[in-house]
Amino acid sequence: MNDRDALAARLATEFRARLGRPPAGVWAAPGRVNLMGEHTDYNDGLVLPFALDSATLVAVAPRDDDLLTCLSLDRPGVAALRTGDLRPGAVTGWPAYVLGALWALGWPQARQPGLDIVVTSQVPPGAGLSSSAALTCAVTLAAAELAGLEPDRTTLAAAARRAETDMVGAPVGIMDQMAAMHGQTDHALLLDCRSLTFEPVPLPGQDSGLALLVVDTRISHAHADGGYAQRRTACEDAARTLGVQALRDATLTAVETTLVGEQRRIARHVVTEIERVRTAVTALRHNDLTGLGEIFAASQASMRDDFRISCPELDLAVDTLLDAGALAARMTGGGFGGCTIALLPDAAVPTATTAVTAAFKTRGLTPPRAFKTRPSHGATRVC
Ligand code: GLA
Repeated sequence: MNDRDALAARLATEFRARLGRPPAGVWAAPGRVNLMGEHTDYNDGLVLPFALDSATLVAVAPRDDDLLTCLSLDRPGVAALRTGDLRPGAVTGWPAYVLGALWALGWPQARQPGLDIVVTSQVPPGAGLSSSAALTCAVTLAAAELAGLEPDRTTLAAAARRAETDMVGAPVGIMDQMAAMHGQTDHALLLDCRSLTFEPVPLPGQDSGLALLVVDTRISHAHADGGYAQRRTACEDAARTLGVQALRDATLTAVETTLVGEQRRIARHVVTEIERVRTAVTALRHNDLTGLGEIFAASQASMRDDFRISCPELDLAVDTLLDAGALAARMTGGGFGGCTIALLPDAAVPTATTAVTAAFKTRGLTPPRAFKTRPSHGATRVC
């Protein structure tokens, strides 16, 4: 039994202990790491995420009445709401993600039955690994299967995103939900966020002698939410100034000649970052790891200097990993804290981990958490 199966078994046991009957099933959806293309998804651009091998699990059973209840094994708070009362603003905190997913699926309009939902997660919350999309995608898949709905996974990803944008009020793009729904073992997903078409890109496998190392800085800056929304608005403003539908349609020349100040910096990051997704995919396909390292470095500099979403702790982790032998390293996700992702020789993982821990200790920072990960498959029914 692997970790996920063991956790699913424990979740089912807890469900039965707390609710007096077994769940109808347990579903899981993974967190994600993005390899390239930060803040490009809501600009209709390209991204290159992969699904993590850690997931959020939900045990679900229909009820005889119209009550929707949810509780978590990891966090306090219980929510209970009649299906007919489900609307934006009706629930806050983490249950808003769970019930928001049902709302986005049209649960109230379809007069679907009440549900009991119990949640647990291997994806650390607030680390920029998209624990929120893991949760909404797990609930969306579970509810769709229980209701006998058969929408495709992209439709489910879009519903999971609406749970965040419309119910929780976080103006996120579609990358995380698409990664959680469409992730493939040992592959990243080259996703076009305008057409929502994607293709798998092979990543170095277990026999390559290479490893993917996540370092969670365990920093979550207070302005993360405000900073994300501010960047998004700035991108829309820049697109308007340039007279294009989205920054995806802008050229670097137009950005450099038409825009000034903050708008120029913001747009330059997006336009060059979209191009870096293309070049990173080419580098991966040709096993050009030196080239990949340069593209990662350019992305990190762009996020630090132009888009300004890195922070000293992320920069420190990236620099330390590179000094310790990483071939490519950058921050990943929304920014203002969270995680870095690095590709490095498997043999260098212990040294790199020790080096990052020591660097953080020297500066009096909270000890970071480093772990190897392997690109995994998307949301699924576990049992
Ligand atoms: C968060 C959002 C995504 C994406 C990234 C930045 O993870 O949820 O939609 O915008 O930030 O690339």
